[in-house]
Amino acid sequence: TDLSHIRNFSIIAHIDHGKSTLADRLIQYCGGLDAREMREQVLDSMDIERERGITIKAQTVRLTYKADDGKTYQLNLMDTPGHVDFAYEVSRSLAACEGSLLVVDASQGVEAQTLANVYQAIDHNHEIVPVLNKIDLPAAEPDRIKQQIEDVIGLDASNAVMISAKTGLNIKDVLEAIVTRLPPPKGDLEAPLKALVVDSWYDPYLGVVILVRVVDGELKVGQKIRMMATGATKEADRVGHFTPKAVQSGRLGPGEMGFITAGIKDIRETKVGDTITEERRPAAEPLEGFKPSVPVVFCGLFPTDAAEFEHLRESLGKLALNDASFQFEAETSAALGFGFRCGFLGLLHLEIIQERLEREFNLDLITTAPSVIYKVHMTDKSVIDMHNPADMPDPIRIDHIDEPWIRATIMLPDEYLGGILALCTERRGQQIDLTYVGGRAMLVYKLPLNEVVFDFYDRLKSISRGYASFDYQMDGYETGDLVKMSILVNAEPVDALSTIVHRSQAEHRGRLLCERLKELIPRQLFKIAVQAAIGSRVIARETISAMRKDVLAKCYGGDISRKRKLLDKQKEGKKRMRQFGEVEIPQSAFIAALKMG
Ligand code: GTP
Repeated sequence: TDLSHIRNFSIIAHIDHGKSTLADRLIQYCGGLDAREMREQVLDSMDIERERGITIKAQTVRLTYKADDGKTYQLNLMDTPGHVDFAYEVSRSLAACEGSLLVVDASQGVEAQTLANVYQAIDHNHEIVPVLNKIDLPAAEPDRIKQQIEDVIGLDASNAVMISAKTGLNIKDVLEAIVTRLPPPKGDLEAPLKALVVDSWYDPYLGVVILVRVVDGELKVGQKIRMMATGATKEADRVGHFTPKAVQSGRLGPGEMGFITAGIKDIRETKVGDTITEERRPAAEPLEGFKPSVPVVFCGLFPTDAAEFEHLRESLGKLALNDASFQFEAETSAALGFGFRCGFLGLLHLEIIQERLEREFNLDLITTAPSVIYKVHMTDKSVIDMHNPADMPDPIRIDHIDEPWIRATIMLPDEYLGGILALCTERRGQQIDLTYVGGRAMLVYKLPLNEVVFDFYDRLKSISRGYASFDYQMDGYETGDLVKMSILVNAEPVDALSTIVHRSQAEHRGRLLCERLKELIPRQLFKIAVQAAIGSRVIARETISAMRKDVLAKCYGGDISRKRKLLDKQKEGKKRMRQFGEVEIPQSAFIAALKMG
């Protein structure tokens, strides 16, 4: 296709502002699927995404649109994830396009992620078309929101497209705006092949599928290709695009997006951000790639039943096949036995992986408290990257510890400002800015990431009754007065419950955790002491008094099947317990420890 008849675009929006609904409408309008195939929300393909209503993996769809000028256009739509954890995936989708539709809910207005995404699009030199969605809602205030887009983002919104993705109102106007207001791609058919690897995933039938954006030259079936970063050479055996059905056209030209397969079995052979070139006539230089996505949150995952360890390893391996940003390595814990230390892009990412392991792979897991990466500066001048409290060196050998900070943007209705300011202060935040835009407060804060990974997002939502939105970016490392807090149960340290905390928070946290554990650890035949300690100094203590536990006493004289049921239930309970010395700690105690602020 002639470059002037191609448009590559993405849709950027805050969560729930209607990105997926609009994408589905565009696909429907352009006839990519018939009515029977047009399931609701085709772009959100994974079950968990569907249930949680979030888009995780970037996908691309080619639309064919006959415009008012009489010409037929090839429109390539890149879907982008809406959650802050996946900002990196947004960035790489944007790098493959020339323009964006900025979807804003006309009843909600600009939110924190609208801002974060739009700034990323501007960084990628995108042309941006504002789209006001949900104008069918009685609460929609298109004029006010247009003004807000101009005030907050500084984008001309006078010719914003007003639509209802739900009812299908004005969908054609969106397509016309894409054709007339977004620029076509640039590229040279005669130049040596350069194609950007935008994404890759493992498909059980096709092997590794690579999503590409061709910049120069041509990609064809049978061509010998070379991955410029890894040097690997392969033969392209399938070349095509998604409509969203996979169509094997056999060729991709400059400016086009699509997929290839090349008999690759291991996803690690394809590096997202790499450049594909032709073996016969290679390009002199690769394209500017992407920075790799680096995990920022780590935790241990242990099977409740030790016999499940191999099953857990296999399951993690399967998940990693389709999620290059997810990392894991084997770990042993004195308390929890054999498990894995895993790295995630953020807390939502962690929750999604954990949920998939439990649901799709039928695993029962214990998750340890999430940790960030600390830089431990030793007295001998070496620096250790530490993300597991168990690896904390002897304090005598430590000179100082640096911790990661973030720059957070929080948007919220005025009435919740007091509560949110208090929350940020309690989490050691430093206020950078406070402004008012279109009836909402916009707060900019610097916060230590370790104060955010626990339950900051949940607290933010509950204090603001769900009305605050939040986005962040990493903001470098700073020295902090950090200590390792251990939890001891009858004087035995439970390594899985130890955490790195700021000294000023240690006592408060320690006390809360001991109180929580006291409620959660069932009474046993002997007295149990639960203590929090820094080094050898105990900072909090609770005692669980002894009790005789005999479930059968309850059904004295009862029939045998009821007794058996109770015994089975008790056994079931046991399975989810962990033995510490003589003390049994239920799985729920570990989970509760995680939820601690
Ligand atoms: P993520 O996938 O989480 O990023 O969300 P999204 O931006 O894709 O939002 P989605 O399309 O899932 O829409 C969120 C909700 O808004 C759904 O319940 C939609 O049915 C609803 N919605 C979308 N467009 C409209 C609209 O034009 N009018 C009304 N009334 N509701 C809409």
